[in-house]
Amino acid sequence: MKKDQPLPIPIRPRRLRRTSGIRRLFSETEVAPSRLIAPLFVVDGLGKPEPIPSLPGHYRFPIPAILREAHRLARRGVGGIAIFPCISQNLRTPDAKEALNPKGLIYRAIHAIKKEFPHLPVFADVALDPYTSHGHDGLLNRTGSDVDNDTTVRLLMKQAVLLAGAGADFVAPSDMMDGRIGLIREALDQAAFPEVGILSYAAKFASSLYAPFRDAVGSSRSAGTSALDKRGYQADPGNRRAILRDALLDEREGADLLMVKPAGPYLDIVRDLRESTRLPLAAYQVSGEYSQIHAAAQKGWVDLRKARDESLLSIRRAGADLIFTYFAQDIERVRL
Ligand code: PBG
Repeated sequence: MKKDQPLPIPIRPRRLRRTSGIRRLFSETEVAPSRLIAPLFVVDGLGKPEPIPSLPGHYRFPIPAILREAHRLARRGVGGIAIFPCISQNLRTPDAKEALNPKGLIYRAIHAIKKEFPHLPVFADVALDPYTSHGHDGLLNRTGSDVDNDTTVRLLMKQAVLLAGAGADFVAPSDMMDGRIGLIREALDQAAFPEVGILSYAAKFASSLYAPFRDAVGSSRSAGTSALDKRGYQADPGNRRAILRDALLDEREGADLLMVKPAGPYLDIVRDLRESTRLPLAAYQVSGEYSQIHAAAQKGWVDLRKARDESLLSIRRAGADLIFTYFAQDIERVRL
């Protein structure tokens, strides 16, 4: 063979990657802002937004400021917002009764947002951790050894109805109690909210990556540690088969969409679910996933935008329709 002759390689995949125009033609996955849900933290009062140190670029917003932020996000075309309350420590009790105060912070915030932006989809967490003095997602049993499933679900049903009444488009049980999806559906229907959907945090793992979120809502402060042990209800990170069972049960109980959380380290679960259900799927790129990327970028070890885009693209590629992500706030359009 002559030196300048091409080698006999007739099949050359690089032909489809040769120029940026050609690469664009064959790209298989896109991350549009409309697929992203922005988590927002709300706090009582009229002061300035408080920065959250472990979540760079994120704040606890008082209601007037959260309205401005919702406006900005809606203009940028984000798909929706997920709203989490940061309740003052003196309102946190073992019985989480502030969760059912109809004048409570989260209900006022949702009401104000939906009044100004009726077309911006709002997802509201159903769980008790912002309200319990111990930081767990539910009420403890008599001996304090475990979260009691059924007394917790009774409260979650009422919380879901109040969230629907405030105007939430979707309630999002993130507590991992048994049987709550079916009973919340029943409670919503009985209270005449058949149009309000349920996003089930169906595959939620007991993860170390929730630590910055717990700083943000203060549940770690109440617990005295951000390593709050939730393994009695959140799933074992090693259990693929068990979580599928759990998630498919939520589908049967009437969930409108299912979520996998965290996202990046659990892409196999996203793919498993994509192949096992026809419901839409969401994945939550949690606080620790975001903070890890920021921390590495601050050190100059990875490029922030590239690491961000790659992380989101991978979650979409695995099969998620929607991504809950702290990057939603600064995204334009992502494509590698
Ligand atoms: C609690 C809840 C958590 C997150 C969303 N809802 C934390 C937890 O389970 O302790 C975590 C989100 C994140 O880390 O970004 N019900």
